[in-house]
Amino acid sequence: MAEIDQNQMKKLAGEKAVEEFVKDGMTVGLGTGSTAYYVILKVAELVKKGYNLKCVATSIASERLALENGITIVDLNDVDYVDVTIDGADEVDPKMNLIKGLGGALLREKIVAAASLQEVIVVDESKLVEKIGTKVSLPVEVLQFGHVRTAYGLKRQGCEPVLRMKGNEPFVTDGGNYIYDCRFENGIDYLSFKESALDAIPGVVECGLFINMTAAVVVAHKDGTVEIRQ
Ligand code: A5P
Repeated sequence: MAEIDQNQMKKLAGEKAVEEFVKDGMTVGLGTGSTAYYVILKVAELVKKGYNLKCVATSIASERLALENGITIVDLNDVDYVDVTIDGADEVDPKMNLIKGLGGALLREKIVAAASLQEVIVVDESKLVEKIGTKVSLPVEVLQFGHVRTAYGLKRQGCEPVLRMKGNEPFVTDGGNYIYDCRFENGIDYLSFKESALDAIPGVVECGLFINMTAAVVVAHKDGTVEIRQ
């Protein structure tokens, strides 16, 4: 059987997650990124079919895409909870712990994930790792104020922090902050401790470790199969 490409895998995973987890009447969290893109388009199809869905967006880009496709967006402050959020990830380990934030939306993604009864992650198989931090750097969102000092604190946690750039300027998140991409030489050990230690550094707003937050991972494989891990 011919292999499918990464974009086709993203589409398969995104659509499958919506089919499996989104029910009429739900409040749905919309993720950010190139896999969540297909989630949003599939949710829009359900809305066109007549589903009554309220959606919360995890970024300005996702909100815009949702609105363009006829989805009703509500403020997170106006809902008691989110039934299910479907979002992408940059790394997924066997315990469904994640690194997120290569797209720069980790802060809102984490707030929405924490407000969700179910956080469902959609990935192609290239995102699967044995150990977190071995493939990608960990994005950490920091305040612009004093960010160079904050980066010293990050470095003391055993990583090499690199300020994310967009052209000649630092990349600015939806929250108006900067991101340091932190490379850990041998991956990240003791994830919960590391998350607490990073988040305790003055100036750090949030890090891209999502520990024990995931209810299910929908993984698309090159052979065209889709697996649901719960
Ligand atoms: C956005 O900030 C990220 O957390 C994305 O969810 C993550 O980078 C996955 O994006 P892709 O689906 O585009 O790989």
